[in-house]
Amino acid sequence: MTRPLAAIVLAAGRGTRMKSDLHKVMHPIAGRPMLGHLLDSVAELGPTRVVVVVGSGRDQLEALIAAHEGTLVVQPEQLGTAHAVLQARPELENFAGDVLILYGDTPFVSADTMRRMRDRLNQPDRPAIVVVASRPADPKHYGRIVAGDGDTIVKMVEYKDASTGERAIGLCNSGLMAVRSEDLWSWLERVGNDNEGREYYLPDIVMRAIEDGRASVVVEVEADEVEGVNSRAELARLEALWQKRRREEMMENGVSLVAPETVWFAFDTAIGRDSIVEPHVVFGPGVSIAQGARIRGFSHIEGAAIGAGAEIGPFARLRPGTTIGEEAKVGNFVEVKKSTLGKGAKANHLSYLGDSDIGARANIGAGTITCNYDGFFKYRTVIGEGAFIGSNTALVAPVSIGPGALVAAGSVITRDVLADAVAVARGEQVDKEGRARLFREKMLARKSKAT
Ligand code: UD1
Ligand code: MG
Repeated sequence: MTRPLAAIVLAAGRGTRMKSDLHKVMHPIAGRPMLGHLLDSVAELGPTRVVVVVGSGRDQLEALIAAHEGTLVVQPEQLGTAHAVLQARPELENFAGDVLILYGDTPFVSADTMRRMRDRLNQPDRPAIVVVASRPADPKHYGRIVAGDGDTIVKMVEYKDASTGERAIGLCNSGLMAVRSEDLWSWLERVGNDNEGREYYLPDIVMRAIEDGRASVVVEVEADEVEGVNSRAELARLEALWQKRRREEMMENGVSLVAPETVWFAFDTAIGRDSIVEPHVVFGPGVSIAQGARIRGFSHIEGAAIGAGAEIGPFARLRPGTTIGEEAKVGNFVEVKKSTLGKGAKANHLSYLGDSDIGARANIGAGTITCNYDGFFKYRTVIGEGAFIGSNTALVAPVSIGPGALVAAGSVITRDVLADAVAVARGEQVDKEGRARLFREKMLARKSKAT
């Protein structure tokens, strides 16, 4: 039987190098807070308890933690990682099982790695602690791990406290650990702060376990996976790593990316096979695309569902609440918001379509604008199936255009149009024969006198 699992996520660090009013773990990667990525991976293991340790800025984290059924505890002063973990103790007093200790600013530890940590902890030799380690190309100021036989650990040492010899070690502490609740609290209580940093170091529990005759072990992972974020530059680096991975997954799943490195996905972008995404497309959150769609260059798409075989762009902008039907087309410089385009409907050029329902096969002429806002409220525009809206039409909402109706170019439509009717709402054309010539002659004469 697998033992119950709890996760403690440390996120009380001040994150000063971000120079931000936004809590470090709330900075988004692929359109979702870092902490959200981590909590989602944690959720894959089905923990019974998730406790997030927060310092300042707790109000910024409350909703996200609640959404993941986690509990927030406050570490009033940042006295070190061991002290941070201890803050979770009251919440876990009645918990007996395996505990994963994770960092809120190390968002891309995979659920697989978390499973590996836990599996290793429960192998027959029953190690005291499983420490996730990596060998980064530049080990910087990471804590080092002095390895023993097999995967065992002789000593954990912080960079600040390390000897020259220890600093030359390539095996680094990622900070993440798995340990049993039955052991954790007593070892934490025995961690002091008699060190260079005057901090209560979590890695010290490995030495407390050794004092009790219990060996700890490492689980090694690729350095990328446990890379943390301390600055905006590191945030951008993790974003780039995430995007690279997602582009590869998309292509493996049968989506063509003409220039993969120029396409930016959100955490939840879903695209059906045989769809093509041209260069320089940006996806915000909430986009799903069916099979065989074509997203042309330089489009910006968020909160939109796009049907099979639809064509979007180039230079299209789809905003939240948009549904594009099968085989429909949205062309260049068209913005669509909170609107539905039926099957085969077309808005090929230069339009704003907001708060509208557009029927199947309707044709929206160039320059059509739905005037959906009067400065106070928003109103809907309804366009029936097969209707034809002439170029440069303003549809002053609320208004509806019946199925099969035809609106003449340049109209300003303020009243409903019946099905199959023609509506013309523009100044009448007046022709005055020869008047342009007369005007020209008069003006030329005036000008020659003036000079
Ligand atoms: C820590 C490890 C180091 C490891 C490195 C990996 C310790 C003493 N050192 O160092 O061995 O190589 O991570 O990145 O653990 N936090 C709190 N409260 C605190 C202090 C920290 O919640 O009082 C949180 C931070 O928000 C962060 C995590 O713990 O999420 C790590 O803290 P940080 O200050 O970044 O530790 P490092 O010095 O990087
Ligand atoms: Mg750190």
